Parts: sequence; C-alpha cells; structure tokens
Amino acid sequence: MNTAYWRVNPQNPDPEVIKKAAELLREQKLVAFPTETVYGLGALANSSQAVAGIFTAKGRPARNPLLVHISKIAQLEGLVEAIPDTARLLMDKFWPGPLSIILPARNKVPDIVRGGRNTVGLRMPAHPVALALIDEAGPVAAPSANLSGRPSPLSAEHVKADLDGKIAAVLDAGSTGIGLESTLLDLSTERYKVLRLGGLPLEDLQQLLGDRLETTGNDSDRLPHYQTTYEILICDDHEDFIKRQEYCRQHKKKFAIVSSHTGHQHIINKSVAVYQLSLNQNSSNLYAILRQAEQAGIEILLFSPLPEDLHQVNPTLFDRIRRASGKQF
Ligand code: TXA
Ligand code: MG
Repeated sequence: MNTAYWRVNPQNPDPEVIKKAAELLREQKLVAFPTETVYGLGALANSSQAVAGIFTAKGRPARNPLLVHISKIAQLEGLVEAIPDTARLLMDKFWPGPLSIILPARNKVPDIVRGGRNTVGLRMPAHPVALALIDEAGPVAAPSANLSGRPSPLSAEHVKADLDGKIAAVLDAGSTGIGLESTLLDLSTERYKVLRLGGLPLEDLQQLLGDRLETTGNDSDRLPHYQTTYEILICDDHEDFIKRQEYCRQHKKKFAIVSSHTGHQHIINKSVAVYQLSLNQNSSNLYAILRQAEQAGIEILLFSPLPEDLHQVNPTLFDRIRRASGKQF
C-alpha cells in the first residue's frame, strides 16, 4: 500500500484535505492524525472491519481496547447509555482536552473497540485537525499511531517510521504539543480510578473528585511498553553517573546521555551524544529522544540523575521514564 502524506495547517486545516481523509475512513481504511497529545491511528469506530485493521497494522494484542475519539457531545449518544453527572462535569470542564473517560458502553459499540469489555473509553482531543476529521467522518477509534510496544509518535515522521506502507494516509500537522498520552479515568465503577497518568494533571481531577478518586495501574501496564533496542539506565546520583560512563568506556559500549539539567555535568567523553530532556508538562520530547537514540544505534541510553522532585514537577514524564526503563523506582 502506498501511504499518502498530506500536510495540513494545524490551526486551520484545508477542508478539501479533511474531506479526502474522511472519505478514506468511510472506505474502511486507516488514517493517522494529530492530537494535542500524540498522533493517533484512526478507523471508523462503528466498523469492526476497519477497526480490525488497526490491530493488524500496529501488531496490537487483540483484547486491548481502543479509545473512541469524538468531536461533539451529541456523538456520545451512539456510544454510551447515559452520561453520569460526574462525567458531564468533567467533560464540561476538560473537553476538548487530554482526558479520556471510561463509561459503560452501548451494546452496539463493536466488541473489538471495547476489547470484549462492557465499557468504552471516550476522548475529545483538543486539536483542530482531529476535530475537523471527526466532524466529517463521525466517531473515530484510535490508539497511538506507533507499532505496538514502541514510543508514541510526536510527528508524521515518527508515524512514517513505524507504519509506512501499512496505512492509507497521514495528516501531517507538524509536532504534537503535550508529547505524552491522555490521562485515563475509569468512571464505570463506584470508585473512580485513574488508570494512566497523562496530559491532564492529576490535581485537576483530585480537585473535582476528591476522595472518590483512586490511582491504580491499568491492565495494559502488564503489556510491554517501549521495547527499545537498547538498555535504559537511570543514574541515582553524580557518582553513579560517572561510574556508569566509565563502565561504558571500559566495555566499549556505544552509549548516549539524556540530560535534564542545563548546568555543567561531568561527561567523560565529549563525543558522546547528549539529548536534552524537556521537563515541561506541556511539551515533552521524551518519545522523540527514545526514537533518536534508536536511530543512532546505541547500546545504552544513560539518564543523568533526574531532578529529585520530578514526580512532582511532571508525574506523567516520571511514569513514562520508569516504564521505558522497565524498572520500578
Ligand atoms: O492521548 C491519547 O490517549 C492517545 C491519542 C491518540 O488520543 N491515544 C492513546 O491510545 O494513547 P492507546 O490505545 O495507545 O492507549 C489507550 C489506553 C490503552 O492502555 C487501553 O488499554 C486503554 O486506554 N483503554 C481504552 N479503552 C479502555 C476501556 N474501555 N477500559 C480500560 N482501558 C481502556
Ligand atoms: Mg499507545
């Protein structure tokens, strides 16, 4: 398959291009599109056949449910039986935006979208291109537009690296903003559960939901995440950082460094690549770095000591670094 790449203005997409992309979706094809978090890989949510294509293209485990992306509240009617008051409150306040909400699903939502569950994950992305596409095509089921187990894509280039030739088209609106996926909130049970930290800060939810909010792990946490081709090591402190660099030198390991400091750091080999990690909650480049490091063909990616308060500064970034390294810390 020849994948088409269509450039669109991120704020004001050309309606003709959006129409072409929506037409592909209606033909049961797959179209990647930008959101404010990461790029998504879309298929028409009411077509089991189209949605099945997502699983094939990504190599995604079959029972992993998909988020349904909508552009207006009226579209919820075909997806859920009712909108509980809490859900409505959150939608009013945070949509469009990086919050996905899980609610009991209507039976007619295809089983493959729900991963066999009786719930459906709902998201209204805050990106003019995504909203225009959904307005034109109707609700779109979409996971992140990467091969399963790889970092989520922040640009059309990232999508191309994983899915070229496997999907019909990519709407290229440049880099996404937040760079980390949406916050996942399960409102389908008595207690409200945050299943995944994400672009919407936890405090914003805590403020509204108080004690009813629980933070647990998602089932999908047990699936492999970010299977990088290299090992990721996170240095505890300055001493550890020097020691590990020495180790790489002695064992002739090809390595690169991720730094979250702007000040001086002791780097023993000046020719080693240093990637600067952004700690900004609204624009993470972590996934871009993980991909760049892979292209550089390194064996070890060394994170210089992270700020002590990173889990406060940007808890979602902390969470994703932890997952990528495959370790609990
Ligand atoms: O920011 C985002 O959320 C991006 C953009 C494209 O919207 N999407 C995204 O989708 O990250 P995906 O499929 O990569 O991650 C969605 C997560 C998965 O872990 C999935 O298991 C979970 O949401 N999920 C979806 N529907 C669910 C449901 N009904 N119950 C429990 N978990 C659900
Ligand atoms: Mg994903």
